[in-house]
Amino acid sequence: MQANPRPANAALTPITLTALDPNLPHTALVLAMSLDGKIADTRRGAARFSSLADLAHLEARVAAADGVLFGGGTLRAYGTTLSVRNPDLVAQRRQRGQPEQPRQLVWSPSGNLNPQMRFFRQPVPRELITTVAGAQRWNAAQFQRVWKVPEAQTTPWDWPWILAQLRESGIETLALLGGGGLAAALLCCHCVDEIFITVCPLILGGATAPTPVDGVGFLAAIAPRLELLSNQTLGDEVFLHYRVRPTPARDDKFLYPGE
Ligand SMILES: NC(=O)c1ccc[n+]([C@@H]2O[C@H](COP(=O)([O-])OP(=O)(O)OC[C@H]3O[C@@H](n4cnc5c(N)ncnc54)[C@H](OP(=O)(O)O)[C@@H]3O)[C@@H](O)[C@H]2O)c1
Repeated sequence: MQANPRPANAALTPITLTALDPNLPHTALVLAMSLDGKIADTRRGAARFSSLADLAHLEARVAAADGVLFGGGTLRAYGTTLSVRNPDLVAQRRQRGQPEQPRQLVWSPSGNLNPQMRFFRQPVPRELITTVAGAQRWNAAQFQRVWKVPEAQTTPWDWPWILAQLRESGIETLALLGGGGLAAALLCCHCVDEIFITVCPLILGGATAPTPVDGVGFLAAIAPRLELLSNQTLGDEVFLHYRVRPTPARDDKFLYPGE
């Protein structure tokens, strides 16, 4: 699969989300992590360690987006998703001509999700990104749309291709809500434009606890580089907002992990 590097001279402001490639949605990864860089404890359960201010920040990021994307591991951990409940945020969506709730997209290659999860009773539009086999057990009441990604686009997962389909279906802005597996898959494909990360005042530790970006990792020479757009301290938490800098094309001199 070819990487999809963004234009080298692209400029972004922290407020206006403008897609760098008109064929792809603008993507923003939003996570909370412990001071030691973990997004959950070693049980890999739901991460509920951040403050109400961080929850409001997350809701604002969700409310700003046409769609939100998260991995099956995250859905299995939470059993639910964050809908937009703040009336001001709902009103702002209406004013922008957006539906009240963003489209909730789950990435699960196996499609192995429990249909009894509360997620399936939440009043939000649900979509599944999966394989042909993973699609089999689901119906239109559970997922209004099932994106069956052809095998050729799943080895490895061709996120630029998938995001282009989502853009065509009307998603201009996409919030990426984790976990570390999803973040790694998209960062590998140069498909993350911005990162919002909240540093929370606790230490989780544990070699197997998930981190913001799991997967095989990047060699330092080719690791994604970031530009700090803003930082804010609220209580004991630090809210960081970065832009992901354009990365050398895949055929440049650096090797990617596993090559
Ligand atoms: N602190 C935060 O802000 C935050 C936010 C989100 C999540 N989290 C935490 O992150 C954890 C979940 O993260 P995660 O990394 O486990 O899951 P994830 O990123 O939510 O999802 C990973 C996805 O990768 C797929 N996958 C796994 N192995 C694969 C392989 N070999 N090839 C292709 N696809 C593969 C899985 O598919 P299947 O569905 O088919 O298994 C799953 O859908 C939870 O503990 C959650 O609480 C924290």
